[in-house]
Amino acid sequence: MATPRCELKHKMSSLVHTETSLSDKMTDSWELDLIKLSQEAMGKAYCPYSKFPVGAALLTTDGKVFTGCNVENACSNLGLCAERVAVNKAVSEGYRNFKAIAVCSEVVDTYITPCGGCRQVLLEFGQTWIVLMSKPDLSYEKRTVVDLIPLPFVSRAMSKYVQKDNSE
Ligand code: THU
Repeated sequence: MATPRCELKHKMSSLVHTETSLSDKMTDSWELDLIKLSQEAMGKAYCPYSKFPVGAALLTTDGKVFTGCNVENACSNLGLCAERVAVNKAVSEGYRNFKAIAVCSEVVDTYITPCGGCRQVLLEFGQTWIVLMSKPDLSYEKRTVVDLIPLPFVSRAMSKYVQKDNSE
């Protein structure tokens, strides 16, 4: 039997929101708060093939946080990185302006760095926002997106090309 509309509405309003507010978990350093949220998200990683859990926490310019973890698949190229899960969650909820993303893994001796594909995805939403690459002890390297993907291919470059073509 179909669910009556009012009941559905009620159920929807009780759904857990996908975003957190950073101020819920504030310490002195927003960077550390964001890394901690990425570590919480890493706990949800679905990575039976690589056994390499990764977490991400994406902070919007208005203070909301969208988290992500890697989600693998038996068909390996369908797997998703933690960063992209977080970005896709945010964008699909209407958020496109980002201040920072924190990324974490269980690797203790090097900072986790976003893969090349994720760097391009982060770039889509700006060049100068912050990437925090962390270790489990909460130490981190702080860079901008464009630091991680120099000589970037951005849509502006593409529209110039299209414009030039059209004017010929
Ligand atoms: N992974 C991420 O989630 N983010 C990265 O930046 C690097 C790699 C995931 C993908 C795959 O599930 C696992 O780590 C091993 O590559």
